[in-house]
Amino acid sequence: MTIGFTLNHENVKVQTAPDTRLIDLLRERFSLIGAKAGCLAGGCGACSVIFNRRVTKSCLIPAFRVQDSAIITLEGFAKTDAYKDIITGFAAAGVATCGYCDSGKILTMEAILAKKPRPSSRKEILAELRGIRCRCTEPESLAAAVLAIADIRQRRLYGRRA
Ligand code: FES
Ligand code: FES
Repeated sequence: MTIGFTLNHENVKVQTAPDTRLIDLLRERFSLIGAKAGCLAGGCGACSVIFNRRVTKSCLIPAFRVQDSAIITLEGFAKTDAYKDIITGFAAAGVATCGYCDSGKILTMEAILAKKPRPSSRKEILAELRGIRCRCTEPESLAAAVLAIADIRQRRLYGRRA
């Protein structure tokens, strides 16, 4: 089948089998390798993309569901100020980045802050972080990073703290 969708804000078309995983389409047909093929079972978040404005595991999305959708990968998101906030927040909270977990970690941070720009409860943040796996960072440090990023973003947007 031929599917058409927007990928990092550009209209694209690709011919593929309807059950091809989105992660494979992105990596093999569009050379977008920011999303990683980790567990391929929805458990690690390494393959995360923004799919119709929601952070989604691309290993679970078959090609037929991609028709007319809007997808942003880590490569597309990396061009935004929002991405810079996250990287600055990671540095402030001592959170490492790596090729394996970046898509899940970075896009999930964005999803948390999109839902609640000033998160107050660590418990709530920790619940949101359950879908991603970073082998070298404690969830508590990731929660601290979310709060640091919220602060950085509020200052960038409004010149004040969260
Ligand atoms: S590769 Fe998709 S969740 Fe692990
Ligand atoms: S920094 Fe990537 S697995 Fe921990």
